[in-house]
Amino acid sequence: MKLNISKAAQFVKAGAVEAMEPQVMAAQEALENATCLGNDFLGWLHLPSSITPEFIAEINATAKVLQENCEAVVVAGIGGSYLGARTVIDALSNSFGWLQPSNMPRVLFAGNNIGEDYLSELIAYLKTVKFGVINISKSGTTTETAITFRLLKKLCEDQRGKDEAKKVIVAVTDAKKGAARTTADKEGYKSFIIPDNVGGRFSVLTPVGLLPIAVAGFDIAQLVKGAQDMEKECSLATPYAENPAAQYAAVRNALYQDGKKIEILVNYQPKLHYFGEWWKQLYGESEGKDLKGVFPAAVDFTTDLHSMGQWIQEGERTIFETVISVENPNTELAVPSDEENLDGLNFLAGKRIDQVNKMAELGTQLAHVDGGVPNMKLSIDKLDEYNLGQLIYFFEKACGISGIVLGVNPFNQPGVEAYKKNMFALLNKPGYEKESAAIQEKLK
Ligand code: PA5
Repeated sequence: MKLNISKAAQFVKAGAVEAMEPQVMAAQEALENATCLGNDFLGWLHLPSSITPEFIAEINATAKVLQENCEAVVVAGIGGSYLGARTVIDALSNSFGWLQPSNMPRVLFAGNNIGEDYLSELIAYLKTVKFGVINISKSGTTTETAITFRLLKKLCEDQRGKDEAKKVIVAVTDAKKGAARTTADKEGYKSFIIPDNVGGRFSVLTPVGLLPIAVAGFDIAQLVKGAQDMEKECSLATPYAENPAAQYAAVRNALYQDGKKIEILVNYQPKLHYFGEWWKQLYGESEGKDLKGVFPAAVDFTTDLHSMGQWIQEGERTIFETVISVENPNTELAVPSDEENLDGLNFLAGKRIDQVNKMAELGTQLAHVDGGVPNMKLSIDKLDEYNLGQLIYFFEKACGISGIVLGVNPFNQPGVEAYKKNMFALLNKPGYEKESAAIQEKLK
């Protein structure tokens, strides 16, 4: 993975990125010495290097049980208990899931919304296949996931009988507390622990992400290897100017201080759509607090050049872009020649589709920079487990540094409780009587 900041750094005062070195180094030291805000949630920092081959083997063994006994596996989880697995599985899967060779179970995601049609349609499908469940919830009490798990548990038990269902239901949750833990212990499900000191959005390299990714048939050892190598590359031992996480954190803070309040993560590969979703949660929940924080947005190019492209080129100049560029596609396809040439595209005949994509990417960067949009570029060799592992750890490390430089606690998310309190009051949850009364007053 390579980071190029030159087309972004030119937008801030000369020397501004270099001048941030003391702040950024101090943030890195605060992470390393656990002296920063939120220092009880730093379990992700050296997580990659702490993962053993034995642990990977245990996850792969559980994945094998699900693979051998299920045509579909539903991953129930939301937010940090969902997005990492979906990101990696989407990035590595066939773009048209139904065309995938079917020697692996189809991995489906639920528990990440409260759509009645979504759940009804899922259930209708699951009645036609042998399925298993991975129930993922750190707190073990998240409403979206818990409602979904109720439905799935009953369906699975009705389909296979209670004893057989136990073999294909796996819990990933807290070691001791929460309903998911109580149920797993009571029913005797295989379970994995989410460490106390790893927050949801930093948990993709725990069983939260690793188990579903392994079930989908991907190489979690390579994913972890990529993260381990990036852990070294982004360590304190790497000089500031060569440390990609430090540089990215510095540039985005310098731009933010200069009025660039929105960062757009750009991809040119549809398979990376969910990478943008994962990244939005990571940066949005980590930095958006105390009335501060870059707003993280994401687009899929060239698709969104035909919609959001107008805004990015000519809208308010408060944005900057970070482009993830995949250097080599995993397949080869050329533009065909056409005798009639009615579309006038024979000048492209014989060229790889990716050459066209790359020129769109370069042309867009030039246009956006000319239009006043700072651009950073992250290049990876290809879309595979190793490179995704690198990207994941890079963004996590940079997020920790960036949040500390911004002056917030990057590891809490107090703001996500407000909607839950209102929802429980509106649904008359026992214990919320006072809130219910107050909310009824507001609604008058
Ligand atoms: O990052 C976070 O902490 C959140 O997005 C949580 O992961 C999400 O709310 C799900 O929580 P839980 O795993 O407790 O069900």
